[in-house]
Parts: sequence; structure tokens; C-alpha cells
Amino acid sequence: MPAYAVIGGQWGDEGKGKIIDYLAERVDAVVRYAGGNNAGHTVVNDSGTFQLHLVPSGICWPGVFGIIGNGVVISPDDLMDELQQLDRRGIDTSNLFVSERAHVIMPYHIILDRLEEEARGAAAIGTTGRGIGPAYLDKVGRAGIRVGDLLDGESLIPMLEQTLEFKNALITKIYGGEPLSRDEMVSKCLEWGEMLRPFVRPTEEIVRDLLDQNKKVLLEGAQGTLLDIDHGSYPFVTSSSPTIGGACTGLGIDPHAIAGVLGVFKAYSTRVGSGPMPSELDDATGEEIREKAQEFGTTTGRARRIGWFDAVAGKYSRLVNGFTGMVLTRLDILDGFSSVKICVGYRADGKEIDRFPANTGLLGRCEPILEEHPGWDQPTASATSMSQLPENALKYIKRVEELVGCPVQIVSTGPSRAETVLVEQVIP
Ligand code: GDP
Ligand code: IMO
Ligand code: MG
Repeated sequence: MPAYAVIGGQWGDEGKGKIIDYLAERVDAVVRYAGGNNAGHTVVNDSGTFQLHLVPSGICWPGVFGIIGNGVVISPDDLMDELQQLDRRGIDTSNLFVSERAHVIMPYHIILDRLEEEARGAAAIGTTGRGIGPAYLDKVGRAGIRVGDLLDGESLIPMLEQTLEFKNALITKIYGGEPLSRDEMVSKCLEWGEMLRPFVRPTEEIVRDLLDQNKKVLLEGAQGTLLDIDHGSYPFVTSSSPTIGGACTGLGIDPHAIAGVLGVFKAYSTRVGSGPMPSELDDATGEEIREKAQEFGTTTGRARRIGWFDAVAGKYSRLVNGFTGMVLTRLDILDGFSSVKICVGYRADGKEIDRFPANTGLLGRCEPILEEHPGWDQPTASATSMSQLPENALKYIKRVEELVGCPVQIVSTGPSRAETVLVEQVIP
């Protein structure tokens, strides 16, 4: 039963969108299972450059289903905007389906995201401000509104009234904000229901049927392992499960259906938002990489923090996801450096540490133990085969494989679909 997962191995923005678009040629459906429009997935191909936030990254392949599963939180207006933009650019979106069980990001979630961040002050997480945390909080708190509820006004209105009363009390009494109007909220929800109705399906059944027919399904991860609510650098994480377990619960598929789990890693590290990052480069080299790679967020435009490849975190990420293979992206960005470094361990409180600590304070005190490797002068940019890669780049890849403990199956050498080295077939 051929489902293949593509999961961020680091702190997000590893290039998942590019890899999904590249692999989607070989599949019948691409499905999102977690996160919301905090994600920003860049796809570059013959049809142009696309920044996708909710629409699965296989959308440029005609005939490939795009499915948004129950584990995703949906901002209906943003989804509609994204679909309209794609339509205007001639991309067929008629194969897109949305789970009736997916939760809706409500206007009060977005307001509360901002108010909570302000209240955190210096301890702010640096969220994307899209209402993600508050929406997942309501989901697990059993106070969420789901896509299916938007289609049924009769049961929706009492649910909404009850929740809104509580949210307005929170907004006004705790944070001193402005309450939201009940009537405006009701009409907004009913309007969203009509907008979404044509897309709403029992997506777990669609995915199951595809797998039963031996059709290939790509599970599109958003965010990254180190932002996972359980496995990430808590509390500086997102509120969903980007890791492999999230794919099962976020879609309603059984783990036996998953034939391969591909971890996407940048050849170095980046992070947007706050929280520890042991291999961070606060120097001219970090600045050089940021400028060369244009490391600014796809969703919020914020400058991304830069660091060397963190193999301790990489090994941990492999462990919690059971990666069967790795993708190494943005190798071309390291072209021309006289040397490149890999973080192979941490040092904190006078001790050496070889695992990714759960304790945020300890992780924050970790200094990287760096291994230096000679760089390469000849470009890897745009290479499409291993034989085009300089010897030192091949050695670097080999060392990353050894340290993370899993084979590199794809190397990405540029943003576009064509700039890819397929080392080993991932989807037979
Ligand atoms: P995602 O969230 O994991 O899909 O990643 P983003 O799209 O947020 O960020 C990755 C950035 O790297 C995007 O601008 C991509 O176009 C770009 N990119 C992906 N792979 C490569 C690569 O191999 N080389 C270069 N130079 N850019 C890449
Ligand atoms: P993709 O799918 C990078 C980060 C935010 C913040 C933290 C919590 O493009 O890789 P949230 O708004 O989710 O409550 O913010 O998580 N974050 C991401 N960083 N890539 C992403 O998605 C991210 N989605 C959330 O910057 O630090
Ligand atoms: Mg991104």
C-alpha cells in the first residue's frame, strides 16, 4: 500500500515544497496532514513560482488529487484566495478536496494569537500570527468549529454562540481587546460553508480508496520535526504534529500504508522565530549565507536565523520519524566556501552531549562541537547527477549520511524542479 511521506527534518523551510513538486509526477495524490497557512511551500517549475500555504504542493501536475486532511487547520478566506490565484495562473484546482473533520481557524484565533504573543513579552514564540496555536488549543479543548459544521447552520449557531461568549470574555476581560460581533461571525461562517461546500469530502475514505487501488499517495509534511508539539524544542514549537505520527492521525491512515518516510534537510540549518538553535551562526558567515540564499520567510518575510548543519538534531529527527531516506537541499548555497562545518555534538555545563536535549534551558546552553570540512570551488548549482558534483561536496554528503544514519536519496541543487539529483529512486 504505497503511501510515501515527505517530512521536514529541521525547523521548517527545508525545501519540502520543491521536493513534493518534483516527486508528485509519480503519484496520484498529494495530501497535507498537519499545520495550516503558517506553512509556506515554494514550488518553482515551468509554470512559474508558487508560494503555497494550504494547497498541497502537487497542484501543478494535472490529474493529481490535492487533499487537505483532518489534521490541518483551515483559514477559509486564505484557502479561497490561494485557489483563485492558482486559477488565474491557469493551474487546475478542480481536484482539490478538504476534510469535513478539519478545524477552522476563526477570527478570534487570529486575534488571540497576537494578544498571547504580546503578553509573552520577551518569551514570545515568534509565531506566524495565523491563529494556529489558538485553533489547535480549541481542537484539543473540544471547543473547535470543524469544516463540516460550517455546512450545517442549525447545529453550528448554538456551538458558535457558546464558544464566542467565552472567547469574547477572554479577549475583553483578560486582554482588554474588542469583542467580536455574534451576527457578523454567524454570517461569516455560513458564507464560508457555502464557499467550501464543493470541496468538502470524507477525505479518509478517498485516501483509503486510492491506496486500495494501489494508487500512490504522497503525504506532505508542513513545518519540521524540531517544531513538533511533542518532539520539538518545546515551547518554541508549533501546535501540531509535523512528524510521522501526525500523518496517521492527521489523515486517518494506518501506519502499514506508509512504505517510505523521506526526511528533508537543508545542507545547513535555518530557523524562524525564537528558541534555541545550538549551531546558530551569529557572524559574517551566517550573514553571507542568509544573503546568498535569500533566507527570508515565505509566509511572514522575516529573516531566517542561519546555522551549520546540526547532525545531533538530524539523528534525533531520523529517530522520531524512522526516515528511510534523506533529501539534502540547497547544497548549491555552500558552493565557494573555503570550508564548511557540521555540528557533531554539543557542550553544556562542562559536559559533552551527543543527543538532542528535551530540556529547553539545557538546549539553550548547548554550544556546538564543530567538525570542519574542506569546501569546494566548482559549482554544484543546477547539477542533475552525482558525477557532476565536486569530490569535496560528495564527501560532505557522505559525512552527513553517516552522522544522521540514513542514505541521501535526493540532492537538490537549485530551487527549480529540474535542479535535482536523484541518487536513488524513492517512489518505485
Ligand atoms: P518549505 O517550507 O520546506 O517548502 O521551504 P520554503 O519554500 O519555505 O523555503 C525553501 C526555499 O529554498 C525556497 O525559496 C525554495 O525555492 C528554495 N530552494 C529549495 N531547494 C533549493 C535548492 O536546492 N537550492 C536553492 N538555491 N534553493 C532551493
Ligand atoms: P513550513 O511548512 C518555518 C514557526 C514559527 C514559530 C513557530 C510557531 O513552511 O516549513 P505558529 O504560527 O505555527 O504558531 O508558529 O513555528 N513556523 C515555521 N517555521 N517553516 C514553517 O512552515 C513554519 N510554521 C511555523 O516561525 O517559530
Ligand atoms: Mg516554508
